[in-house]
Amino acid sequence: MIGLYVHLPFCLRKCPYCAFYSVSGAESLFPAYVERVIQESRLFSPRPVDTIYFGGGTPTVLPPTLLKDLLATLLERFPCNGEITVEANPATVSPASLQILRRAGFNRISIGVQSLKNEELQFLERLHSAEDAAQTILDASNAGFENISADLMFGLPGQTPEDVAFSADQLCNLPVSHISAYSLSIEDGTPFAVRSPELPEEEAEREMYYSLRRSLEGHGFLQYEISNFARPGFEAMHNTNYWLCGEYIGLGAGAHGYTDGVRYENTCDLKAYISSTDAVANKTVLTDADRYEERYMLGLRLRKGIRYDGNSNVPRLIRAGLLEKHGENIRLTERGMDIANYVITELII
Ligand SMILES: C[S@@+](CC[C@H](N)C(=O)[O-])C[C@H]1O[C@@H](n2cnc3c(N)ncnc32)[C@H](O)[C@@H]1O
Ligand code: SF4
Repeated sequence: MIGLYVHLPFCLRKCPYCAFYSVSGAESLFPAYVERVIQESRLFSPRPVDTIYFGGGTPTVLPPTLLKDLLATLLERFPCNGEITVEANPATVSPASLQILRRAGFNRISIGVQSLKNEELQFLERLHSAEDAAQTILDASNAGFENISADLMFGLPGQTPEDVAFSADQLCNLPVSHISAYSLSIEDGTPFAVRSPELPEEEAEREMYYSLRRSLEGHGFLQYEISNFARPGFEAMHNTNYWLCGEYIGLGAGAHGYTDGVRYENTCDLKAYISSTDAVANKTVLTDADRYEERYMLGLRLRKGIRYDGNSNVPRLIRAGLLEKHGENIRLTERGMDIANYVITELII
């Protein structure tokens, strides 16, 4: 399986917690950027791909007609009959733009909802209200999107497990088929790293996660990855390919790719990317040891786990209640998921 990722590093305004590479106020660069992405795509031989993902940043900050033209051009080189996702922020779409995107060929939309409580959205300095986010989901559904994902954030200062369940319940009553839930992390270089808001204690944060999981499972969502839940059949194919260490072509400033055993990373500087002929800033040929580590680091995030390969640390972690056998596979237990990084480190030392 191979995916195609296109990074669109633009946002209406930067959120104070976010370290994703994106800039605001760069509208004048949109046409040149899209042209450069198309040029970069020509460095790769034409081939069918299984999934396409327009991520960001906020791809929907670009005019929908520009996204439509970019997708059409990429599809000529990389035909795709599978999942084609666009990420969207509720403050940057309208019923009309969603219709253009759906008709352009995007068949999945991932919407940054974050919360359905206005005071939480205000704390996160989001540019939309809970009502706007809910309306965007309905508008996407009316535009013909049957595969709608929503991002939720939890572990906010002062938040309770009931608050998290409230947003999850509200979301599940909307036409959403997939939910990604992230615990707020304070990232270096962001305004939140300077302000250091007081985060909940670890135990309280875990209670929020359990509450979220209970609520989503109660609505028929299945957890298939540490942070991801889906109605059966709506698991994200593009992201699952990452967790299975599959290949993907990455285009755009700050994009990553993995093709022919080489991981590469494009320059994060927008203007340098636009004027470059070779955007790749870093290339790593993965050794067998790297691949082995990645298989654990990424694959164990999946609920189905990874095939047991005789790793001698496994029996000890099973005895500690952190791993369990699941058919031919080993997987994290619920307790193991809480300290996944520790368990994975123990497996690859
Ligand atoms: C590229 S954005 C999604 C689309 C769009 N830009 C938006 O925000 O609406 C990726 C997601 O990562 C999550 N995220 C970003 N920074 C985070 C942080 N510091 N802690 C937890 N989640 C974070 C948010 O849920 C966000 O929706
Ligand atoms: S969370 Fe989304 S909208 Fe906010 S800065 Fe990050 S990418 Fe942009």
